[in-house]
Amino acid sequence: VFTGVIFVVVESVLLAFIVRYRRGRRARTAEGPQIHGSSRLEVAWTIGPVVILGVIATVIFFKLPGIANAPAASASNQTTITVEGRQFYWMFHYPNGAISMGTMVAPAGEVVHENIVSADDDVNHSWWVPELGGKMDAIPGQTNTTWFQAPVGSYVARCAELCGIQHAHMTATVKVVPRAQYEQFIDTRKAEATSIAVGKEEYDEVCASCHRLDTNYVGPALGKNPLLQSEKDLVTILRQGTGDMPAVASDWTDDQITALVAYTKTLKGTHDQ
Ligand code: CUA
Repeated sequence: VFTGVIFVVVESVLLAFIVRYRRGRRARTAEGPQIHGSSRLEVAWTIGPVVILGVIATVIFFKLPGIANAPAASASNQTTITVEGRQFYWMFHYPNGAISMGTMVAPAGEVVHENIVSADDDVNHSWWVPELGGKMDAIPGQTNTTWFQAPVGSYVARCAELCGIQHAHMTATVKVVPRAQYEQFIDTRKAEATSIAVGKEEYDEVCASCHRLDTNYVGPALGKNPLLQSEKDLVTILRQGTGDMPAVASDWTDDQITALVAYTKTLKGTHDQ
């Protein structure tokens, strides 16, 4: 509304002046009337903007420092989830040690703190869930913090920092659920850390960012790839990377590796079955 009013006022005056002071039939060489400025007007249009900018600056100085502070949460309901950006997926670490990829599950209606990080051997990413707040950079070697408090729902997250060839693939979902359901999720995750289901999530979120089984995609086709036939070679390439492939699993737990290997064994064409 504010800028709309300014637009209408400025454009109206502009149009009025174009019509009022058009040249008409006067000769091109005719001098226009010589008008001296109005001191009162000039002082007014100098002081006006200064006052407006002063008000804006004052509000910012008083309000900005506290804008990211999380409201005090009760001691019993303190949840901190670590959000790790990696080429090219999001990994979530929960307080009990459970891990998930691609989907963060969080308790509804309470303050959830987020530690935003990137692995030391990775690059900058930016965690962005538009419906839950602003962007927060994920920088190797540094922990940035933010928080949210949200009702039950599903919220889209994406990477907002150009981080490589599959930057656009770095999407995730924040699933906010009642606390009991959240606790059940992380307990199950912890108990079944080496399951094929977890391995499938890893494959879908990490490997499938760049690979297909039967065709070359960003990276080479995985089916029939001798690397997948050898658990030892697979683990080495996951942990250390090679050529264009980043070390996607350099900081994974052994359980995570076990789960992925268990899942790749179920893929037709990757192992002799
Ligand atoms: Cu990660 Cu863009």
